[in-house]
Parts: sequence; structure tokens; C-alpha cells
Amino acid sequence: MKPIIARTIAEVRAAVRAARADEQRIGCVPTMGALHDGHLELVRVAKRNTEFVVTTIFVNPTQFGPNEDFARYPRTLDADVTRLEEVDCDLVFAPAVDEMYPESLTTVEVAKLGDQLCGPRRPGHFRGVCTVVLKLLNIVQPDVAVFGAKDAQQARIIVRMVRDLNVPVEIVVAPTVREADGLAMSSRNRYLSPEERAEAPRIHAALRAIRNRAIAGETDAARLESALNHELAAIPGARIDYASIVDDSTLKPIAILDRPALAAVAVFLGSTRLIDNITIP
Ligand code: PAF
Repeated sequence: MKPIIARTIAEVRAAVRAARADEQRIGCVPTMGALHDGHLELVRVAKRNTEFVVTTIFVNPTQFGPNEDFARYPRTLDADVTRLEEVDCDLVFAPAVDEMYPESLTTVEVAKLGDQLCGPRRPGHFRGVCTVVLKLLNIVQPDVAVFGAKDAQQARIIVRMVRDLNVPVEIVVAPTVREADGLAMSSRNRYLSPEERAEAPRIHAALRAIRNRAIAGETDAARLESALNHELAAIPGARIDYASIVDDSTLKPIAILDRPALAAVAVFLGSTRLIDNITIP
């Protein structure tokens, strides 16, 4: 069945209230639209955990920097709704900017976890993400909210925000969905030229290669990081924003792999910034 489309907070609240009255548990999948199979998988995960799933579609201006792609970010609501029907999404919340930010003075920030990786390169980004996610959680009041592991730093920050602020929701982080050639699915992949798209899977290949080296016994993080940078630098047209090996939970740099680690990268292919990561057990 086609999902209900809600444009206002009042409409979402009414629909969620009705679902709860019907003893349904509520799931929430926050997105910025331009949905791909990775998003659909998040909805499937939400649907496995709850009965009434709300997908939010909102290109959140507060998480984009002045020179980022807010204006050109793809807005494809009709196609998104059609895809959401495939996975039994119950309600789509697609608010206008004014509905979400009528005259906001309040923001939310998680200390420390935003100090590395994307944080310093996208000042204010995680403040924007946390603020909008907390607002969406307060609007939908779901039992379960699902986020993708591709945005590893975002996922860790949201888990921490929910814990620190006692938000009554279970956060589920679902595995990254990849194209057959390994490229992590992303709404931004559609910006890639055919040549860039052909090179893009090498990002995941580079991450896998260093993970394999670590599993084979290399424990020196600097050596692994240098090998990772070397592999990425060899991709034609690539500009490395960062390629780091960090502690999997604090996201701080580590010297020796004596605990679970995360290899995380952001790479520009032309003007498209792609992120990806791999956990190193
Ligand atoms: O991951 C995203 O698409 C966004 O950062 C999110 C979580 C929907 C907040 O705008």
C-alpha cells in the first residue's frame, strides 16, 4: 500500500497516535531522500523490529556548510515514495524547512566524538545532524530508529546523544549496503561521472586490503594508515580528505591495534565527496 504522506508535525503525531492506539510499535528511518537500496534496507530493518514505520525525508539545511551541496542535493520525493511502497513503509514525513525550523534558537552538540574525521572538515555538520535527529525523534517518538553504518561517525554520535539525553528510543545501526562492485550506496553516487564511478569501488578495495593486513598480523596503525593513503592516492582523480585508523568507539587515533578499530575515509572524486569505513576486529 502507498504510504501516508505527512507534511506537518501535527499530521505525523496524529498518525503515530492512531498506530499506538492500535498497539503497533513505531519505527523511524531518518533520511534526506534520494533513496537507494541502502535506505530501503534500513526500512526493512525497522519493519522487522516494529509494525508502523515512519521514513522521514528532509534535506536538512543546518548540516550543510556554506560551500557544500545543499542546493543541488537531489530531491526526488515522488520516486522515493514509490520505492518506499515496495518495502511497506507506513508513513512518509516530508516537512518543509519552515515546519522544522520556524524560529529555532536551540542546537544540540555531542562533545569529543565530533573532534575527528568529518568533524573538523565539516564545521557545524554534526551539530546540524544531532539537532535535526533529536527533533525528528521528538516528533515521531519511535520505539526504534535505524541508521546506516556507512555514516560511522554519525551513528556513534547519535547513539551517544540518545544515551546522554535519555531519549527513550532504541538505535539500530544497520550494515552498509554495497553495489556489486563494493561501492557503498550513497545518494551522492549519482553525481559521479562514468569515469569516476568506474574508479569509486577502489575506495572499498583499499579499506578491505588494510583490514586484511591487520588480520594477517600488522598492528602498527601508522603503517596501516600510510598503506591506506597510498592505495587511495593511486586512484585516478582522487583527493583524500582523510584516511584514518581510529579507536572504534572513541574515534580517537590509535597507535597499536590492541582493540577494535575503525578505518574511515573521505575521498573526493572530482567534486563528489564519498565516505566509507571498515571495522577492524
Ligand atoms: O544520514 C542522513 O541522511 C542524515 O544525516 C540524517 C540522519 C537523515 C539527518 O539529516
